[in-house]
Amino acid sequence: MTGTLFGLGIGPGDPELITLKALRLLRQADVVVYPAPLEGATRARDTVAAHLTTDQEEIPVRLSMRADEATKQRAYAAAAERIRDALDAGRDVAVLCEGDPFLYGSFTYIFIRLADGYPVEVVPGISSITAAPAVALAPPVTREDVFTVLPATLPVDALEAGLKQADSAAILKLGRHLTKMTKLLERLGLADHAIYVENATTPAQKVAQLSSVDEAAPYFSMILVRCTPERWR
Ligand SMILES: C[S@@+](CC[C@H](N)C(=O)[O-])C[C@H]1O[C@@H](n2cnc3c(N)ncnc32)[C@H](O)[C@@H]1O
Repeated sequence: MTGTLFGLGIGPGDPELITLKALRLLRQADVVVYPAPLEGATRARDTVAAHLTTDQEEIPVRLSMRADEATKQRAYAAAAERIRDALDAGRDVAVLCEGDPFLYGSFTYIFIRLADGYPVEVVPGISSITAAPAVALAPPVTREDVFTVLPATLPVDALEAGLKQADSAAILKLGRHLTKMTKLLERLGLADHAIYVENATTPAQKVAQLSSVDEAAPYFSMILVRCTPERWR
């Protein structure tokens, strides 16, 4: 009997925003895998640290936030091989994922490599796209509004096209694309309707009008923007 691969959504950062199911499966796991920076604190591990036990094997997948796609693929291919060994030995493996595992989650890199050969269970998590509107007290959509999720890493013309088709948007993966996004939203006349949210639900949380943000954005930040603000009047 092989072990089971669990993809556990552990929420946006607040340790209380993890589901009871993810917590139960995390406690039962023999091996715990999580994304980690090259050095320093590990957000995913820190979120669930109170529930880890010393007899669980931990596999951090260490990557620079700025790693290119090839480097990411190599790191996750190597992690998948270690996970495969554990599963073959009959051990259950929990892969922690910030927010929800299937929403731009790094768990997908493991899933595509192992899902064909092993039992898999994915536990959805509270995603940053619902956490950020909650902490900003900014409901993104109502009635028949269209809500769009855009990665800020897209080229400007693709971002512009996406924003023009939406009533409301969450712009993820902001980081070093803050200036590009601010300029685009200004050009589209939407900057005054854009809210910046950083580290939602954590002690480092920051919520501000986009126009007041001038420093660099960290990795865990996004913009919420109403693209058809007249509908809210
Ligand atoms: C690779 S995506 C992963 C999304 C995650 N799986 C989810 O469901 O929220 C990472 C991006 O999510 C956003 N993000 C995740 N957690 C966040 C938080 N606590 N506050 C603000 N943005 C967050 C940021 O835009 C970040 O660059």
